[in-house]
Amino acid sequence: MYRTRNCGELRLANVGEEVILAGWVQSVHNLGALTFVDLRDRYGITQLAFNEDCSDELKHKAGKLGREFVVQAKGVVAERYSKNRNLPTGEIEIIISELDIVNESLTPPFTIEEQSDGGDDIRMKYRYLDLRRPNVRKNLELRHKFAFEVRRYLDQQGFLEIETPVLVNSTPEGARDFVVPSRMNPGQFYALPQSPQTLKQLLMVAGMDRYFQIVKCFRDEDLRADRQPEFTQIDCEMSFVEQEDVLQIFEGMSRHLFKELKGIDIPALPRMSWADAIKYYGSDKPDTRFEMKFVELKNLQIDNASSEIVESIFPEGFTVFDSAQYVGAICCQGQAVFTRKQIDQLTDFVKRPQIGAKGLVYVRVEADGSVKSSVDKFYTQETLQVLKEKMSAQPGDLILILSGDDAMKVRKQLCELRLEMGQRMGLRPKDKYSCLWVVDFPMYEWSDEEQRLMAMHHPFTSPKPEDIELLDSDPAKVRANAYDMVINGVEVGGGSIRIHDAKLQQKIFEILGFTPEQAQEKFGFLMNAFKYGAPPHGGLAYGLDRFVSLFAELDSIRDVIAFPKNNSGRDVMLDAPGVVDLKQLDELSIALNVKELYTK
Ligand code: AMO
Repeated sequence: MYRTRNCGELRLANVGEEVILAGWVQSVHNLGALTFVDLRDRYGITQLAFNEDCSDELKHKAGKLGREFVVQAKGVVAERYSKNRNLPTGEIEIIISELDIVNESLTPPFTIEEQSDGGDDIRMKYRYLDLRRPNVRKNLELRHKFAFEVRRYLDQQGFLEIETPVLVNSTPEGARDFVVPSRMNPGQFYALPQSPQTLKQLLMVAGMDRYFQIVKCFRDEDLRADRQPEFTQIDCEMSFVEQEDVLQIFEGMSRHLFKELKGIDIPALPRMSWADAIKYYGSDKPDTRFEMKFVELKNLQIDNASSEIVESIFPEGFTVFDSAQYVGAICCQGQAVFTRKQIDQLTDFVKRPQIGAKGLVYVRVEADGSVKSSVDKFYTQETLQVLKEKMSAQPGDLILILSGDDAMKVRKQLCELRLEMGQRMGLRPKDKYSCLWVVDFPMYEWSDEEQRLMAMHHPFTSPKPEDIELLDSDPAKVRANAYDMVINGVEVGGGSIRIHDAKLQQKIFEILGFTPEQAQEKFGFLMNAFKYGAPPHGGLAYGLDRFVSLFAELDSIRDVIAFPKNNSGRDVMLDAPGVVDLKQLDELSIALNVKELYTK
């Protein structure tokens, strides 16, 4: 038997027991006659003590130990003189009588501790060592429990976990595909699924009724903190349901997960229309841990987020506002204390190219209710008092205003400013959760790149029945039966009620610019299936990595993935992607010019 106990379980109650432990050497403290070794495994750290009574051979072996050696040690549990209150096993130690060095180790390139001295790159190269650090390991433990509770909940609700293929076809719309050449079909390619969307719909046609899958998805898109080229979805679909049924089931799942894994009872999820999310937060994934809603001081544009013109509260005088189509503001409670320097920093922040605002106007409400601003020379105190009323600002508050010609762009800039202020004001603690559903998304969004309407969710999403008549006259106004679950400003999941009527699906493809032939070629398998009695159906998919990283209170999903890719899509440990043999290219009938690239 390699071990009788693990390194995290022994306590004072075990004093006197003989045990065998096995694990990695965390540290060695040599105090002359005494040597202490911290032994670590997945479960914790236990102190091994080599005292004066040890044989010379044992002392010699203990002297040879280095960091990360794998050892097996036998001894008796004893109470410690100097207890370590920070360690669950800190009241005991093992007085060692036998030691076996199972495997030696090179000195690791960074310290294997919660606060490691290793930078990101080196830790990713040696990820198997990084994973030995307790905080990183805990994230994977949480991920396991999360997936386990998802399965438990969905099983209780009658969902079947069904696997779908990984070698599928490339589909237009969505992100870029990862493609895989087919040896047996020269010149042809599989694509890795961006999601099992159409397959789960076919499972509904097949009568499976309730499906789920914890499944890898692949998207060749630019990477960010919350995006990986391969990531995991909790993918779900249900038959004979309306939007409300789907929201209820999955609100239930979130409640179950919060309760089981975080011990938190979350309130019923509020619902916010997409239009309101954009109008008041400038984002379809608002962080609702704090208020600070936008107030429109002027909006001369009617778009999907606003249906009425807001006349400016400012008389003519300040050309920036006079010429702007949209002026919006946030009120930061108690922040009039912001110094000129801090406001300059904020101005630089919104002017960064990633945000792109032209400038920032600020208004301080003084203790006596009077108002001081960066636009004092353009407006009278009365006008600024009207502004104060409109913003419901109190003495001590700071009002920040952005303006511009494109309401959507200014809203996005104001959204960044709001998040930044929320951060600075400590209103976004990671252990506070605010969940909501964002509903009533538009069906389409205009793509400047493609110069056409694109599906905002995906082309299988059904329009709201009351908006179907707009499909011909004003498709940009049509709203979809689509919904996202948003937690703390992160889109953790999204889905929709699907089209189950082949004719309507055909029409949607038309609006997206597919000819009937193109639609048949790409999606014929789905439209044909719909001719054989497709049930009404709908569902959603969660991003497992994102959901778990929120629970783990982390900023990046990489920390909840065992072997993540870096921002250039590389696995630096495996050194993937890499070149392949020319012979393999031949077998795959890969074109000659690629070969030439290789041989240059
Ligand atoms: P969607 O594209 O919104 O919907 O994806 C669902 C959820 O998956 C997560 N996600 C990602 N996580 C990490 N890295 C990525 N690159 C990434 N891309 C997406 C997000 C997102 O909310 N088939 C539909 C779902 C449906 O309609 O049922 C779909 O894939 O958390």
